[in-house]
Amino acid sequence: MNNKFAPFLLGAAALALSMAGVARADDLDAATKAHLAQLDSGPSTVDVSQYPQGIQDDYHVFAQKCAQCHKLSRPINSDYVLPEEWARYVKRMMYKPGSGISGSEAKKIYDFLVYDASVRKKDLLDKKLAGLSPDKKATEQAKIQKVCNEYGAKYASK
Ligand code: HEC
Repeated sequence: MNNKFAPFLLGAAALALSMAGVARADDLDAATKAHLAQLDSGPSTVDVSQYPQGIQDDYHVFAQKCAQCHKLSRPINSDYVLPEEWARYVKRMMYKPGSGISGSEAKKIYDFLVYDASVRKKDLLDKKLAGLSPDKKATEQAKIQKVCNEYGAKYASK
C-alpha cells in the first residue's frame, strides 16, 4: 500500500469509529430529551365520551398501539395538530421496528388524532392553520372535514 494514504485511512477509520459510537449510544440531544419528558409527564388519557362512536373505537386502537414504546401521554400532549403533521408522524411511528401497526390501524389512529385535535386542541389548530398559506390552509381544512364527515361529526372551521 502506498504510505501516502496511510494517514488518510487512519483518519477515516477514526471517523467511522466515532460515528458508530454516536449511533450506538442512540443519543437524543438534551433539548429533545427534555421536550419528550415534558410531553410524557402530562395526562395519559383523553375523555372521549362526547366523541362520535367510531372515533371512540379508534381511540382504543390508538391507546393500544401508541403506548408500546412510550406513554400515551406523549402523543396526547404533543403540539402536532395538523392532519399533515399527524400523517407524517403516524407513518414515522408505524415504520419503527416492532411497532406492529397495520395500514388499517394507522388510518384509525390518524382519524382519531385529527378529530381529537379539531376538538381538544382547537385553539392551537386554528393558530397553526392561520399561519399557513391560503392554499395550504384549505387543503388541511379539507382533510379535517373529510375525517369529520366519515364519522358524522361536525367540524366548526374558521
Ligand atoms: C416502536 C416504538 C414506538 C411506537 C409503537 C410508537 N412510538 Fe412514538 N416515539 C417512539 C420514539 C423512539 C420516539 C422518540 C424519537 C422519535 O421521534 O423518533 C417517539 C416519539 C413520539 C412523539 C414525539 C415527537 C416529538 O418530538 O414531539 C410523538 C408525538 C409520538 N411518538 C407519537 C406516537 C404515536 C401517535 C404512535 C402510534 C401511532 C406512536 N408514537 C407509537 C417510539 C414509538
